[in-house]
Amino acid sequence: MEAEAQPLIDHLKLELDEAAFPASAPCKCYTSERNGYTMHVVTNGKCRRHGVDHVGTVAGGLAAWLSIEKFKPDLVINAGTAGGFNRMGAAIGDVFVSSRTVNHDRRIAIPGWTEWGVGKTDAVPTEQLRGALGYKHGVVTTSNSLDFIEEDAKHMLANEASVKDMEGAAVAWACEQHNNTPFFCIKVVTDIVDGDRPTHEEFLENLGAAARSLQEALPKTLDFVMGKRLSEL
Ligand code: ADE
Repeated sequence: MEAEAQPLIDHLKLELDEAAFPASAPCKCYTSERNGYTMHVVTNGKCRRHGVDHVGTVAGGLAAWLSIEKFKPDLVINAGTAGGFNRMGAAIGDVFVSSRTVNHDRRIAIPGWTEWGVGKTDAVPTEQLRGALGYKHGVVTTSNSLDFIEEDAKHMLANEASVKDMEGAAVAWACEQHNNTPFFCIKVVTDIVDGDRPTHEEFLENLGAAARSLQEALPKTLDFVMGKRLSEL
């Protein structure tokens, strides 16, 4: 969402690159140089019909796909907010790095497609990054809904999810389809999935603080990864 990215865009003085994507694509790209590297911050963009930010796997997958084709990045980081599972030690404001991504709402009871639906994709190992910056680590589980139904809950439990988002698995898929482009998620927890507050209320209450927390976490993460081999992350 734009609200998640804006503090970072302002803080890093990123410039909008109008020509990055086809005019028909909703996603937006903001670019800057840092430590001799080029970084691109891509948002899903706004829905022309409803006037709200595009969220979810369609817009996330499209933005990732177009970005990878255009920039051939060394590393893709899907940054944003997520719900956290108290049972996995998540608390509001925690920064999580993904160990893997999965889908919890793609239930297809036909051999072959069951595994395709879950779409388990391991992230790049980040032990040193997490050690240096003090981030938590866990499975990111993705669907197109802010809430969940009982069947989703069973999948999230079975997959040992730590955080729940709406794009991670789609971006991971786009990376996998492009020669396994190295990928991980960074997610700041805005709400507790297995808590007792309505998700949308807790999410909106904590969105501003989470965006500011991302603004702090992402430059530190970029400074850590730039100039390092994948094996040093
Ligand atoms: N983003 C922030 N909180 C979320 C939640 N509970 N589910 C999906 N995406 C989220």
